[in-house]
Amino acid sequence: MCGIVGVVAREGAAPDAAAILIDGLRRLEYRGYDSAGIATLAAGAIASRRAAGKLARLEEKLAAAPLAGQAGIGHTRWATHGAPSEANAHPHIAGRVAVVHNGIVENFHPLRRELETGGARFASETDTEVAAHLLDRLLADGLTLEQAMAEAMKRLQGMFALAFLIGGADQTIVAARRGAPLALGWGEGAMFLASDALALAPWTTRVSYLLEDDVAFLDPEGARIFAADGRQVERPAVESQLSGALVGKGGHRHFMAKEIHEQPTAVGETLARYLDPVQGDLRLPHELEARLAASERVALVACGTAFYAARIGAWWLERLARLPAWADIASEFRYRDAPLPEDGTAFFVSQSGETADTLSALRHARSQGQTAIAITNTATSTMAREADIVLPTHAGPEICVAGTKTFTCQLAVLAAVAIAAARARGRLQGEAFATLAAALAQLPSTLARALQVEEQVRAVAHEIADARDVLYLGRGPAHVIALEGALKLKEISYIHAEGHAAGEMKHGPIALIDDQVPVVVVAPDDHLFEKTVTNAREAAARGGRIVLIADRQGTERAGDLAWRSVTMPQVPPLLAPIVYALPMQMLAYHAALRKGTDVDQPRNLAKSVTVE
Ligand code: G6P
Repeated sequence: MCGIVGVVAREGAAPDAAAILIDGLRRLEYRGYDSAGIATLAAGAIASRRAAGKLARLEEKLAAAPLAGQAGIGHTRWATHGAPSEANAHPHIAGRVAVVHNGIVENFHPLRRELETGGARFASETDTEVAAHLLDRLLADGLTLEQAMAEAMKRLQGMFALAFLIGGADQTIVAARRGAPLALGWGEGAMFLASDALALAPWTTRVSYLLEDDVAFLDPEGARIFAADGRQVERPAVESQLSGALVGKGGHRHFMAKEIHEQPTAVGETLARYLDPVQGDLRLPHELEARLAASERVALVACGTAFYAARIGAWWLERLARLPAWADIASEFRYRDAPLPEDGTAFFVSQSGETADTLSALRHARSQGQTAIAITNTATSTMAREADIVLPTHAGPEICVAGTKTFTCQLAVLAAVAIAAARARGRLQGEAFATLAAALAQLPSTLARALQVEEQVRAVAHEIADARDVLYLGRGPAHVIALEGALKLKEISYIHAEGHAAGEMKHGPIALIDDQVPVVVVAPDDHLFEKTVTNAREAAARGGRIVLIADRQGTERAGDLAWRSVTMPQVPPLLAPIVYALPMQMLAYHAALRKGTDVDQPRNLAKSVTVE
């Protein structure tokens, strides 16, 4: 994974490289924050600064010992090979070559052995360093830079984006893409590169995306790009709509709090694209509706929080549209090589549109003749470009590593898809269709009401913040919300949490229950309510402290079951999973606040994971 950035500029055409690189890395920190580093070229010589930990540590080092130069590369790391130490921080330098890298060099072991036999001295445990030594060796052997890069691309295996800074009189940086994204930015007397065009936004809006196996040579006047077969190619520049303004916290203490509170607006913006409020009708691509009408079965594939959206989407498609649907974890789907229906349809759900597992799964599905539908928050992402149909979410930038508003926006799109599919398959007409479409149109205001439970949730969060284990229970879509609640709590508060299907408790997990274990029961008003409450009673009978998340009627029906409760607004069952996601997010947030963890950038995680 990781984020990479580069610049090469004419004197006076742009600020110093170091300033541009640091600004770019700040925008890329969502890709990892284990360490950061930059290297610049001044008077033909490469110099670097690196620091373990967050970008602020690197900035302190640079303040004490600045780096001059108009050309440079930078990196923010999510560790794969080697601990997140300074020695393993990028850039790695070998002779006249510095490199930064996003991805994995899979054959780094044999390459390292070979290079060491030839006299190379390695200074890190990373897979990355072989790329620097390899290119340096090829240049020392007398190859031109173009020849050396072509040869290096043949020798390196894996999925990666690389940027090299080459020492010497020429101001050149080299970029190479295989499986990880790389955008080039075109400035006046300056060229830029980054893992994400977001990092280029303050400097230029003219952006080209490298394709698989492209190698690009950048100097202040432009770029020469070569495809895998050695032909020089053009990669058309597009106008990026991304803003160079850094996203602020809008008066909130954390991005997570801001993003939780943005959900009514974010979901409203997203639904505006799929709902016609005047006609009360849904607007989805015709081709998609036709496909869903005729499908025997569809797959929904994703990772992490997006996977839970996919699971609920599958549930809705089966229940409303009677369309057999299964949700799969992307890294499993890809390698299980499950039989897929001929000319089938598969959905890929991803906030970033870059998650390596989901992207590989999308490519695999397309290679098997499937039509790929991407549901993503990033219109410029690789998934958006490679999918046959894109259903965007319009959540706006989500900065906190733990997903909140993008999850509810994904669910809003999937609900629209399921309702449209139900109509296309003749399962929902007239009044029944209008009622569901109207409920969906009301979702933003329903979410606004749900946010009002925050004080109740905060009180509960303070009581569970010291727990060692927390269980989450639910049935049907509420089971998936229980899983998402447990995931959120784990991610940001580091409390061990597990979600279970309420009915499955008695088959094993109930053994975990004692009077120290809070049990969060997600119990919306649906046909499963009574059964969920019965399972909660079984947990309570064994000492479990029940936190009941239900509406007022539900809380009354549950009698004295709850140790604590959060009283939700009444919502139609279809929308309950979306609305009940909010107390899950707030519970995790306030527990994390109480524990004093790093809410927006929790340990060991990254927002966008571009390695398998
Ligand atoms: C990472 C993040 C998760 C996220 C998952 C999928 O693991 O830490 O929060 O749910 O990736 O990301 P995507 O961008 O594909 O939705």
